[in-house]
Amino acid sequence: MSEVSVRNADKSDVRLLSALAAATFYEAYFEQDAANDLANYIAESFSPAAISDEIADENSTFLIAEMSGKAVGYVKLRENSHADCVAEKNVLEIQRIYLLEKLKGKGIGRFLIENCIEFAKDRKFSALWLGVWSENSQAQQFYRKMNFEHVGEVKFLYGDGEETNFVYRLMLDKAR
Ligand SMILES: CC(C)(COP(=O)(O)OP(=O)(O)OC[C@H]1O[C@@H](n2cnc3c(N)ncnc32)[C@H](O)[C@@H]1OP(=O)(O)O)[C@@H](O)C(=O)NCCC(=O)NCCS
Repeated sequence: MSEVSVRNADKSDVRLLSALAAATFYEAYFEQDAANDLANYIAESFSPAAISDEIADENSTFLIAEMSGKAVGYVKLRENSHADCVAEKNVLEIQRIYLLEKLKGKGIGRFLIENCIEFAKDRKFSALWLGVWSENSQAQQFYRKMNFEHVGEVKFLYGDGEETNFVYRLMLDKAR
């Protein structure tokens, strides 16, 4: 694998993150999702204006994975975000983790999770948690491989209906 590095995003990355978020989200869900729902979600959630607001939010941190200097994936971390099924209070959410399809399965996701663990441990969080769409079994296998445990579920509105996110948690005292 060519050299992969991870860096913190800043406001100069708004357009890059907007493009990367849209491309990776479309690649991840185009087979399972209705094209219009996907397009609407991407237009609303990943516009430069929406990403700019997220970067400005003091609870948010974006990490960008680069391969040979090119952005290939990212993570969005969120502080002060909780789920009922995660009892611990001092927790950090992995709100999004997405790679370009072409670069999946090469260890970059693991590297990003390791960076999330280091980030969270440095700031004395006790656990990482995340929600993953119940139909996204590939990502769930990845999270289990990264030692996350399934601890519950939450409902969310998407398109015209209600969907389920499974909630996974990683206790940081058990993480290497
Ligand atoms: C989920 C994702 C971030 C994982 O990153 P990745 O780079 O593909 O995963 P890695 O190559 O680092 O894999 C790490 C380990 O998990 C395992 N793993 C990864 N995907 C897996 C899968 N679909 N099934 C089984 N095991 C899997 C790997 O085999 C590897 O194990 P090993 O180290 O023992 O060999 C990436 O595939 C992705 O962006 N997917 C699309 C977007 C998505 O679904 N994001 C999550 C939304 S909640």
